[in-house]
Amino acid sequence: MKNKRTELIVSAISNGTVIDHIQAGNTFRVFRILGLENTDHQVYFGTNLTSSKYGKKGLIKISDKFFEKEDINKIALVAPTATLIEIRDYEVVKKELVSTPETVENIVKCFNPKCVTNNQKVSTKFKVITDHKGNMKLSCHYCEKTMDKSHIEFL
Ligand code: CTP
Ligand code: ZN
Repeated sequence: MKNKRTELIVSAISNGTVIDHIQAGNTFRVFRILGLENTDHQVYFGTNLTSSKYGKKGLIKISDKFFEKEDINKIALVAPTATLIEIRDYEVVKKELVSTPETVENIVKCFNPKCVTNNQKVSTKFKVITDHKGNMKLSCHYCEKTMDKSHIEFL
């Protein structure tokens, strides 16, 4: 009788970043906001993977890539539960939960068409706020309109 292979092992990476514990429904958004469809780096992508913590999770591994604050802020906005794991020479050297930034500059577009940021060369700036239900919202520094997650559009 043939042995059935019951396990498939996703390759470890030698150097790079693992974004783990993404809520499954947000995995593609993370992929998109990081511009990974155009990357030359080696990328492993998994979604709806089993996780004891989240039921289902998404995971993205990018070889030879370490993100700067700006990208980490983007990840935090669309995947607040994510863990960022830094791999150097096959070892996990750092694991951090992404944390929602206090302000978001030049990453997100204001949804108000009359906002100065949509009409002049002014960088966008938002304060990140949490409403009484615990939902994250962005309040525009210029027009003071507040937008919820469904309106977030990245620049
Ligand atoms: N990883 C990797 N390449 C390595 C080492 C680790 O891709 N050389 C990945 C693992 O696949 C895992 C993540 O980095 O998705 C974290 O590794 P590790 O801390 O060893 O895994 P766990 O103990 O399972 O972490 P947790 O319980 O936090 O999910
Ligand atoms: Zn505005």
